[in-house]
Amino acid sequence: METILSGMRPTGDLHLGNYYGALLNFVKLQEKYDCYFFIADFHLLTTHPNPADLNNNVRKILAQYLACGLDPDKSTIYVQSSVPEVAELYMYLNMITYVGELERTTAFKEKIRQNPNNINAGLLTYPSLMAADILLHRANKVPVGKDQQQHLEITRDIAERFNRMYKQDYFPLPQAFNFERELVKIPSLDGNGKMSKSYGEQATIYLTDDTSVLKKKIMKAKTDEGPQSPNSQKSVEIENLFSLMRLVSKQEIVQQFEDSYNDCSIRYGDMKKQLLQDMDLFLAPLREKIKELSSNETYLNKIIHIGAEKARESAKKTIREVREIIGFKI
Ligand code: ADP
Ligand code: TRP
Repeated sequence: METILSGMRPTGDLHLGNYYGALLNFVKLQEKYDCYFFIADFHLLTTHPNPADLNNNVRKILAQYLACGLDPDKSTIYVQSSVPEVAELYMYLNMITYVGELERTTAFKEKIRQNPNNINAGLLTYPSLMAADILLHRANKVPVGKDQQQHLEITRDIAERFNRMYKQDYFPLPQAFNFERELVKIPSLDGNGKMSKSYGEQATIYLTDDTSVLKKKIMKAKTDEGPQSPNSQKSVEIENLFSLMRLVSKQEIVQQFEDSYNDCSIRYGDMKKQLLQDMDLFLAPLREKIKELSSNETYLNKIIHIGAEKARESAKKTIREVREIIGFKI
């Protein structure tokens, strides 16, 4: 069976984009593949988080993963830092990774532009840590967004170099996983591109948003002056509202608003109220589940422990074999 692996840095609560663009797909994948899903807390150290925040964020994201349907009985769900073998593989891989290829990555260039005062070696070697994550379980497929494709290419280059250098066909060359459907892109509430935690809190719907927070965000969503003639094309802002509505509202409700847009009788205030009601109904059970799981420290610890055991079993095997291949015989 093919192995799938994906990781997410614990940078904050999950939003609708993460849910539809990543988690929902992960939930489906776990039925068909040997899946590893992990929380990339080592990666987060490049930004020097304080210890309490780091720990809280890891648990928060874990509770949200579980609430979305990741199932520890079907997949290996783990925290990166509870599998120290990844650090050993990272060190070996760094020996065959060239500074030049790391310096050329777009993400690194972007980071040094944003934070010229914190250009640490961890930032430079971010791709080799990611390669270690992937190769540690000899994963075949990695579901990643566009921004991570370059990192995956570096992983393939490193794996190929290792195989060539040691004349072994040891690491599979991991491929980007493409979902059957086209990648979904969840739009933001302000008419500006995709929903993302980096572009404005108020335009991003988090799975944990309660009714009053949702109300504020949805009622403030950008609209336009209304359709000027029958069957006119929608502005980006209005198309975004319809896209969000299609996610959570019944088809006949969406159709009703499509019709009223087309005959120019639409009232955006009514549409927003409907969207709010349906979004709230959709999020309520997830919100409850997240709350319940987040407060169950014992359960979360158990899940972290089970995940670490499962992930370390696979990690230890790889490390044992890699050490042997490299020439460490003890
Ligand atoms: P953010 O943009 O909020 O920082 P991340 O980059 O951490 O989100 O995204 C984690 C995962 O969620 C990635 O797999 C990404 O493809 C997916 N994702 C994030 N935002 C969206 C979106 N608006 N639509 C679809 N998928 C998304
Ligand atoms: N770099 C990824 C991101 O920021 C997270 C990540 C770390 C990852 N290691 C990985 C993703 C391995 C896939 C595979 O989104």
